[in-house]
Amino acid sequence: MRTVVLGSAAGGGYPQWNCRCSVCALAWQNDPRVTRRTQSSIAVETGQGLWTLFNASPDLRSQILATPQIQPTGLRETPIRSVALTNGDVDHVDGLITLRERSPLTLYGTPEILGIIDANPVYGVLAKDMVAKSPVTLGAPFTIDEATVEFFGVPGKVPLYLETEKLVIGDVGGETVGVDIRRGGARLVYIPGCAVVNDDVLARVDGADALLFDGTVFEDDEMRKAGVGVKTGRRMGHVPMSGEGGSLEAFRDVKVGRKIYIHINNTNPVLISGSPERRAVEAAGWQVSDDGMEIALGGSAGRRVEADRGSTAA
Ligand code: MLT
Ligand code: MN
Ligand code: ZN
Repeated sequence: MRTVVLGSAAGGGYPQWNCRCSVCALAWQNDPRVTRRTQSSIAVETGQGLWTLFNASPDLRSQILATPQIQPTGLRETPIRSVALTNGDVDHVDGLITLRERSPLTLYGTPEILGIIDANPVYGVLAKDMVAKSPVTLGAPFTIDEATVEFFGVPGKVPLYLETEKLVIGDVGGETVGVDIRRGGARLVYIPGCAVVNDDVLARVDGADALLFDGTVFEDDEMRKAGVGVKTGRRMGHVPMSGEGGSLEAFRDVKVGRKIYIHINNTNPVLISGSPERRAVEAAGWQVSDDGMEIALGGSAGRRVEADRGSTAA
């Protein structure tokens, strides 16, 4: 099963258009220790030559330009057949507008997330006869092409633009989900936003060949320290990497083939190659994804196919 990281940054991208924090400054200066990143999305080959976008970022058009696997294959023909949404945040849904030029698509999301799309007249630009909306039930596996996909709730919150004074952070429901993607014996778990790593989250990722996980902030109060805002990572629905209950500690003993951070905020010093924070996450067995990163997972079925070919040749 092949996956391409289309966008490894959190909302705003890296560097962010209006920011010269110490981490963004390096990118504006073209410092060789950092690489520019677009906003949060991955593409997974869910069938032979058929790709599903998991989240549609505001940078989707430039991501397609940078990614041959998802470029058009013929006259008004695209390998992108499906889009699955993990929440209703701007960095995950705005790219749907980029997909408005009448190609058949299936849009997967929980009723909560599809409800947000339905309630916004701008998304009416997606032609009803072309874009099918398929509501997904948490915990109920379904098929996309040759892949088996399951959504599961993770602690989160409603999108920023729907926050009210009654905001609850850490609710588990259809507002913020993780996705389990299996094909040919390979298994990827993608959780770009998660407020708390609880036992349910640990059980969900156990045994996966690869985990792509929320790498928004290194320190919970990093944005305040950087002077860019007062919100903590947890207040934004993002568990920090470091500290008590941070993702480094929480996933320390989990059995996962590869642990990869994604959805990385522009203030996060892990973006700087060789920084103490980057070295700390690498020492803990994590990779920091960048745009264009390809993740190929063989899986047992893939190996069986190779073994069968071998025996035929013999
Ligand atoms: C988040 O991940 O917290 C959101 O994407 C923030 C935003 O809306 O930009
Ligand atoms: Mn985000
Ligand atoms: Zn910045």
